[in-house]
Amino acid sequence: MLEKFERYPLTFGPTPIETLDRLSEHLGGKVHLYAKREDCNSGLAFGGNKLRKLEYIIPDAIASGADTLVSIGGVQSNHTRMVAAVAAKIGFKCRLVQESWVPHEDAVYDRVGNILLSRIMGADVEMVDEGFDIGIRESWENAIEDVKANGGKPYPIPAGASVHKYGGLGYVGFAEEVRAQEAELGFKFDYIVVCTVTGSTHAGMLVGFAKDGRERNVIGIDASATPEKTRAQVFEIARRTADLVELERELTEDDVVLNEDYAYPIYGVPSQETKAAIRLCARLEGMITDPVYEGKSMQGMIDLVGKGFFPEGSRVLYAHLGGAPAINGYAYTFRNG
Ligand SMILES: Cc1ncc(COP(=O)(O)O)c(C=O)c1O
Repeated sequence: MLEKFERYPLTFGPTPIETLDRLSEHLGGKVHLYAKREDCNSGLAFGGNKLRKLEYIIPDAIASGADTLVSIGGVQSNHTRMVAAVAAKIGFKCRLVQESWVPHEDAVYDRVGNILLSRIMGADVEMVDEGFDIGIRESWENAIEDVKANGGKPYPIPAGASVHKYGGLGYVGFAEEVRAQEAELGFKFDYIVVCTVTGSTHAGMLVGFAKDGRERNVIGIDASATPEKTRAQVFEIARRTADLVELERELTEDDVVLNEDYAYPIYGVPSQETKAAIRLCARLEGMITDPVYEGKSMQGMIDLVGKGFFPEGSRVLYAHLGGAPAINGYAYTFRNG
């Protein structure tokens, strides 16, 4: 589906799929859980889902003659860390806006984890005191103008690389990759569980899996706590991406399956149940999920298994999208394990 698009390689190649046997067994053994390890996809600053997206965006950045990637996220944004890594790798400068999207209890929240790594990689990090919003932000537009005013040539990358014209392509590629892996494994996954916030990961998967009629088997677990905005953004990106890849069918709003039950209390703050899911997965599988994103989708998957949402015998693929560096910002939360 992506043959006509230029791709700048930033990842190692297809990501491994592993079984989560102990977790499956712990949850009753009726559903087979697997993880596709997008968190292990690259040697660039610990990797993660943004690299698949950026592989289809960077050729455009280079062709534009820009010299500075300009992006935005929360203080512990994984996305801005990935943009900083890619800028270093391709020899661009990097300007990052880090907004106060999360009320936090750790004294060193703005000095460890993702933001620490972005600083080490040489990004120009600007802290802005604005709350959470997945839309286009004035602070980001100001940063773009500021780069220009200082003689630079900015290349704008929105939050999560999502509402960029090519933002959805990377996860179309994920679906194609899964199909190839299924052919080798000799079975198909019945469900794909994915954490959804700015939307292009879910949207890309939706378009990619629509090719074989599985768009509604992509179960988005909202972690934004602003699900209406997220749902609308997923649909919009999916429609645009479907046009780009010339998907031969119309998508409808009902194709966006987004479960809103696990994002509480708010974006970036883990509930007791999210923390329990993080611990359970870590203790049974040695797999680290973070309190902002993957811990919430892990909680969702565990809870849905318990509720019998997945029919007996289902094979469920958990897309592990990365994010572990942020856990350093939650040292106080996990001070007793
Ligand atoms: C680790 C992790 N998981 C999930 C997501 C959600 O992906 P998206 O923003 O494409 O919906 C993000 C980024 O926002 C992330 O960094």
